[in-house]
Amino acid sequence: MTTTTTDITGRYSRIVREHIDRGVGVPRELYLSEELYAEELDRIFRRSWLLAGHESQLRDPGQYVTVESGDESVIVTRTNGGTLAAFTNVCRHRGARLVDAGCGLARRFVCPYHQWTYRLDGTLTGAPRMPADFDPARHPLPTVRVEVWQGLVFVNLSDSPTESPAELLGTGTELMRTFDIANTRIAHTITYEIAANWKIVWENAQECYHCSANHPELLRTFDVGGLNQDTYRQAEVVANADRRVQHARFPLRPGALSLTLDGDYASRKPLGDFADGHPPYTASIHLKPSFALVACPDYAVLLAERPLAIDRTEIRMSWLVRADAEEGTDYDTDTLIKVWNETNLQDWDLCERAQLGVRSRTFVPGPLSNDEQSVTDFYRAYATLLEAADL
Ligand code: FES
Ligand SMILES: [Fe+2]
Repeated sequence: MTTTTTDITGRYSRIVREHIDRGVGVPRELYLSEELYAEELDRIFRRSWLLAGHESQLRDPGQYVTVESGDESVIVTRTNGGTLAAFTNVCRHRGARLVDAGCGLARRFVCPYHQWTYRLDGTLTGAPRMPADFDPARHPLPTVRVEVWQGLVFVNLSDSPTESPAELLGTGTELMRTFDIANTRIAHTITYEIAANWKIVWENAQECYHCSANHPELLRTFDVGGLNQDTYRQAEVVANADRRVQHARFPLRPGALSLTLDGDYASRKPLGDFADGHPPYTASIHLKPSFALVACPDYAVLLAERPLAIDRTEIRMSWLVRADAEEGTDYDTDTLIKVWNETNLQDWDLCERAQLGVRSRTFVPGPLSNDEQSVTDFYRAYATLLEAADL
């Protein structure tokens, strides 16, 4: 008897729901099953909105970024007409990757293999030495859905995503508008590779149960005590029905203006409403499985997560400053990135420890604490993503 993908996803989503309903974490096969990992790439990452970058990377015609996900690669670019276009990074001739992963500027996309040449809107303009009846118009690059929310660019490899990022992230629109993320630019980016399953990385990002013991730099200004009060949590953490989106206001310690080592601003150009003396706080929003944003009064960090293998995950973190902030005058990069870079490295070490531990056949998931409700939320969203007929 053959095992269908529905059998696989149904079996694992049942295991997840049964465990989280009992208040415990998920068992080791969730991190170790290759058949599940293949389904995750296909059913979750291929059908979800993936963060491509910030619009400031795509101001001018021909500026492009790529988005990598599993075996897929997408080019997002600004066309000569001024719109954003996204298409697969796969030549229509014999399939070669058109551009290397990353970002760049192109007048046209020329395949390195045999020089088939595509316009910025993905249409084929020419191909050398083809038969007389060859019609370039019949061979455009397949387009991919692209949408912008508050200056952040998302793509979706699904033919028919049921909700746009604006619809999904909608409940967080007011919260994040205060920071005017559209009017920022990327000051610095670090790409991390973590030797852990992608869900372990999400679990870690969801809870602050580990923060007091592990994040001395972050806790200088992040008010973890305030976070753990039930009243605060109930009042501030908002999630959509299937838990894919969560957003929250977070308190700063008294006297702190931002998440920095000394509590002062890292950038002298405050974001959005904070330029007018708005009382300081931080806020975060995420869209599983790939996007998170943490905003402070003077800078923000943007995270894109993607699995590289069943036990390897990439996190790309970009630090955003106000569009007119200048390095050396308004901010110093080392100061800007210090707290989150240290916090990230501490987190990746914890994730890698968890990955090592769950490989053991002796691992049986234990009960979750009162501070790990968001881990449960992550797995509710995960089970939904796995099961859903449409996303
Ligand atoms: S594979 Fe791209 S031109 Fe041949
Ligand atoms: Fe952490």
